[in-house]
Amino acid sequence: MPKALITGVTGQDGSYLAEALLKRNYEVVGMVRRSSTVNYERIAHIQDSIEFVNGDLLDQISLIDAIKLHEPDEIYNLAAQSFVQTSFGQPVLTGETTALSVTRMLDAIRIVNPKIRFYQASSSEMFGKVAEVPQNEATPFYPRSPYGVAKVYGHWITVNYRESYNLHASSGILFNHESPRRGLEFVTRKISYGAASIKLGLEEKLSLGNLDAKRDWGFAGDYVEAMWMMLQQENPDDFVICSGMTHSVREFCDLAFSHLGLNYKDHVVVDEQFFRPAEVDLLVGDYSKAQKVLDWNPTTTFKDLVTMMVEADVALLQRRLKGLT
Ligand code: NAP
Ligand code: GDD
Repeated sequence: MPKALITGVTGQDGSYLAEALLKRNYEVVGMVRRSSTVNYERIAHIQDSIEFVNGDLLDQISLIDAIKLHEPDEIYNLAAQSFVQTSFGQPVLTGETTALSVTRMLDAIRIVNPKIRFYQASSSEMFGKVAEVPQNEATPFYPRSPYGVAKVYGHWITVNYRESYNLHASSGILFNHESPRRGLEFVTRKISYGAASIKLGLEEKLSLGNLDAKRDWGFAGDYVEAMWMMLQQENPDDFVICSGMTHSVREFCDLAFSHLGLNYKDHVVVDEQFFRPAEVDLLVGDYSKAQKVLDWNPTTTFKDLVTMMVEADVALLQRRLKGLT
C-alpha cells in the first residue's frame, strides 16, 4: 500500500486530495498544526481513515520527525498562507510559510529519504502581470503580491533541488480552483455564500472589490487528480493545470445571482477595502502539456462550478436555519 503525507490536509485541496488517495487505497497521513480548536471541518467525513501527525511548516524538526516516523512514498506540499490579500498585510509571515518552508520540506526529504516523491503547490499567481496570453510552462513570471513572490521562490527552489540533488520533485502551476469547500474569504465562495444569504433573506448586500478581474476558474476535485498524476510519472516535471477559459468576477456574480432568480446589480456594492495594492488583471492558462503527458483534462464547466457552489451554500444555510448544523 503506497503511503502519502499531505501538508495542508485541513485545507480545500488537502481534503479533496485525501479523498482521491484513499479511493486509490493509499495510506494517508495528514500533517496538522497546533491550534486552540480542532479544525477538521473539511475532512470530518474521512477523518477516521486518515492518520494525523503534528507539524508546522515553520518548524524544520517537526517536518523531519514527521517523515522519519511515517516513511511516506509521496509528499504533497499543499500547506501555505494562501490568501493573496493577507500577504500584503503579512508579507514576512507569507514569505516564511509559503516560500522558505518549501526549502525546509525539501531539506527534510533530502536528509531522511531522497527517494520520496514531492509535489509542490505552485500557482498561476506567479504569472501576475502576464507576459503572454494564454500562460504556459514557459511563460515568464511577474508576481504582483508578496504571495506571488513567495510562490515563485517555492517553485524555483523545487526546480533547484530536483537539479542539484536528483529529487523526484514536481510543481503543479495550478490556476484558481474552487469548490463548496473553498475558504469564505476567496471571491468565488464569498459570492456563492453571499448570494445564498441574500436569497434566504439573511443579508441584503454583498461588498466586493474589483469586478473586472478575470480568472481561469476550475473545480478543485478535478485539479487534485493532476497532482497525483504528476507523481506517477517516471520523471519529475512542471505542469500548468487550468480550464483554458477566463471569466470576470462580474460574470461569476451574474451567473450566481441569476441561478437564484436574482439580479446581482441590485445587491453587489463595490467597496475600496477589497481592492489590492497591485492587481492581477487577467489569468488564462494553456494545459496542453498536461493533456499530452498526463492525459489530464478538466471535467467541470464554469457554469457547473458556479451552480455547484451556489446550491451547496443554499443547502448549508438552510440546514443552519433549521438548527441542523
Ligand atoms: P487553503 O484552503 O488555504 O489551505 C491551506 C492549508 O495550509 C490549511 O490546511 C492550513 O492549515 C495549512 N497551513 C497554513 N500554514 C501552515 C503552517 N505554518 N504549518 C502547517 N500547515 C499550515 O489552501 P488551498 O486552496 O487548499 O490551496 C492549497 C495549496 O495550493 C496552497 O499552497 C495554495 O497556495 C496553492 N494554490 C491554490 C490555488 C487555488 O486556487 N486554491 C491555486 C494555486 C495554488 P489550517 O487549517 O491549520 O489553517
Ligand atoms: N478575495 C476577494 N474578495 N477577491 C475579490 C473581491 C473580494 O471581495 N472582489 C474582487 N476580487 C478579485 C480580486 O481582486 C482578484 O482579482 C480576484 O477577485 C480573485 O481573488 P481571490 O478569490 O482572492 O483569488 P486570487 O486569484 O487572488 O488567489 C487565488 O488563486 C491563486 C491562483 O491564481 C488563491 O487561491 C491563491 O492561493 C492561488 O494561488
